[in-house]
Amino acid sequence: MTTLTLARPDDWHLHLRDGAMMRAVLPWTARDFGRAIIMPNLVPPIVTGAQAGAYRDRILAALPEGSAFEPLMTLYLTEDTDADDVAAAHASGLVKAVKLYPAGATTNSASGVTNFDNVRLVLDRMAEIGLPLCVHGEVTDHDVDIFDREAVFIDRTLDPIRKATPGLRVVMEHITTSNAVDYARAQDDSLGATITTHHLVINRNHILAGGIKPHYYCLPVAKREEHRLALRAAATSGEARFFLGTDSAPHTDANKLLPCGCAGCFTAPNTLPILAQVFEEDGALDRLEAFTSKNGPAFYGLPVNADTITLTKTAPDLPGHIDTEDGAVTVFDPGFDLTWSVQ
Ligand code: NCD
Ligand code: ZN
Repeated sequence: MTTLTLARPDDWHLHLRDGAMMRAVLPWTARDFGRAIIMPNLVPPIVTGAQAGAYRDRILAALPEGSAFEPLMTLYLTEDTDADDVAAAHASGLVKAVKLYPAGATTNSASGVTNFDNVRLVLDRMAEIGLPLCVHGEVTDHDVDIFDREAVFIDRTLDPIRKATPGLRVVMEHITTSNAVDYARAQDDSLGATITTHHLVINRNHILAGGIKPHYYCLPVAKREEHRLALRAAATSGEARFFLGTDSAPHTDANKLLPCGCAGCFTAPNTLPILAQVFEEDGALDRLEAFTSKNGPAFYGLPVNADTITLTKTAPDLPGHIDTEDGAVTVFDPGFDLTWSVQ
């Protein structure tokens, strides 16, 4: 196969940041993707409908001329979130999901949730109106090993929340373990799970063996090879509950290459060439479109994008880093030469 046409993909988990960084990274997503779920972990976070509306306007203003890219906004759940404000932002069509960060789990998550009793009314309201909860699924307890934090979260937090809030639609975001794959598979269709590009490619050895590689450090951190293989099997299965959320999370090299460097892989420019190669390697090119373009809209109750993109079997001409006014941002290096290009 040398060309592949897909309904235009969407990205169901994306960090666009703001200001100069947003202006530099947004064109890369807008080039290949029709829509993206925009993460609200700015400083300060996007908590209210009014803040989400203003952020959406800034994104639209930064789009390249003629781009039809549509940002799908989210609200950052705090213990002070107002259920009426959430419901109004959803009813107006502005907000497509609410994001749950356990306090302290990742970049800019300090305003997240510590006591889940304090968000119960908001979650009940979301279940009532059919607004999905996107979950960063890691416990933050210092006594839990970082490689176990996702699996422990499922038992300790996620499953109890779902049982206490029947009907709540939940996205397990950026899953990294076979435990998460197994849990997702055992649930009804109120549960979806996103998988990133980089977690299909790297395991923890890529970060730690033969010298530390800060550009491969992200959260949730990549796990053992057996987990990567479980994610590959899930993504390439075509099953409706699994869809693409790149978690493309740009940080300047200056902020990555520190004694305490930031977490995040920047995959917006090369996600589709990487995915085409991954799916081809696994004999699943015919299921790529389900993962990138069909399963996500179905979960969110949105139409599949009407236009298409075409990939061709030629080495892409992509940068190793992009320049921003804040400094260089390194593009995720999959560690192999890419063979597919977006036309
Ligand atoms: C994200 C970021 O930089 O905002 N980092 C990451 O490693 N994925 C935050 C997140 O989604 O956890
Ligand atoms: Zn993220």
